[in-house]
Amino acid sequence: MVDKLRFAIVGCGVIGPLHAEAIASLPDAELVAVTDVDQEKAQKLAEKYHVKAYSNFQDMFAAEKLDVIDICTPSGMHGEHACAAMRAGYHTIVEKPMEITRQRLDEMLQVQRETGRKLAVISQHRFDEGAVTVHRLLQEGAFGRLVLGNAAIPWWRSQKYYDSGAWRGTWELDGGGVLMNQSIHSIDVLQWLMGPVKSIYAYTDTLVHRMETEDVAAAVLRFANGAVGTISATTGAYPGATTRIEIFGDKGSAIIENDQLAYIHLSRDDTEEIGAYGGGAAVKKGAAEKAAAGAADPAAIQSNTHAMQIADMIRAIKEDGTPLVDGTTARHPVEIILGIYESARTQKEVILS
Ligand SMILES: NC(=O)c1ccc[n+]([C@@H]2O[C@H](COP(=O)([O-])OP(=O)(O)OC[C@H]3O[C@@H](n4cnc5c(N)ncnc54)[C@H](O)[C@@H]3O)[C@@H](O)[C@H]2O)c1
Repeated sequence: MVDKLRFAIVGCGVIGPLHAEAIASLPDAELVAVTDVDQEKAQKLAEKYHVKAYSNFQDMFAAEKLDVIDICTPSGMHGEHACAAMRAGYHTIVEKPMEITRQRLDEMLQVQRETGRKLAVISQHRFDEGAVTVHRLLQEGAFGRLVLGNAAIPWWRSQKYYDSGAWRGTWELDGGGVLMNQSIHSIDVLQWLMGPVKSIYAYTDTLVHRMETEDVAAAVLRFANGAVGTISATTGAYPGATTRIEIFGDKGSAIIENDQLAYIHLSRDDTEEIGAYGGGAAVKKGAAEKAAAGAADPAAIQSNTHAMQIADMIRAIKEDGTPLVDGTTARHPVEIILGIYESARTQKEVILS
């Protein structure tokens, strides 16, 4: 008989229901209760999964026997809610971004250490098959010396999207715009594949939407390993186009498009000399025709990679191991984004420590 861990969700807006679906799909997880300050949202999700609805998570903590709390509230509340959950004795999963300020990132890591609870931060695209394959090949050194790593996120979000929640597009609760909200996934995968970012020079602006934070950004990166790279991102590219992550080395190249491996060519697979001007056919091709999932519709995300990440958290709890994306790991993309904001503000190169 499988020992099921008892889960509760805090925040039943757009992403909360996807967590519920992911939890329901796992044999060793059980959704027990949900909370939202908007009682109607909590009730609706609770009814679907025949669980209890609360409007205050402290009441839920007091009333329910729980193992894991899943925080799906607005980004600038993650620290407060995750710390409350860990202090109450629960393992905690928090949606991306981990937090939006360095002070609250520090606090979360400190509370995690003090309580000894597991903390996982959602970065579901690390579980995409394409990203996992490229990561494994990079570990094997199959790309040779890395030279260039790019992430392009030319997405579309309507004004209606930004108007759909008072927190969206605000510094206080979204912590930024296209970078902190939409692009953090690709930025996390880029730095997971290329290694740590050492320095940043960037521009950001708000060109299309009525919002406080940026809807367009371009950054030039220097990685710690000496490679260079770029991040280009917008939510003003109607109707939303292909998300690309490109990894280039002197022994191979890979391109991930819309979370799928669209192109990979490694010198170790070549049967003949490639010649002075390069070229050569792709050994794997074909994701370009896939719909740009997530590029135009924030709800168009598959729950299976969320389920894989929640399963990874269950593994970490049961084995007393570390989740693949723990707090220390999840801090990196937030630091890169904060560095981009600082560079855009000061028009100076920002060195990350
Ligand atoms: N991993 C992904 O692909 C993905 C996709 C979408 C959103 N997200 C992240 O998930 C988080 C939520 O985004 P969303 O789009 O679902 O937002 P949302 O506004 O649709 O939902 C947030 C919910 O939290 C509730 N809430 C606010 N304060 C609360 C509190 N104190 N207690 C309980 N509930 C509270 C709100 O009433 C709302 O229903 C954000 O951090 C966002 O970045 C991640």
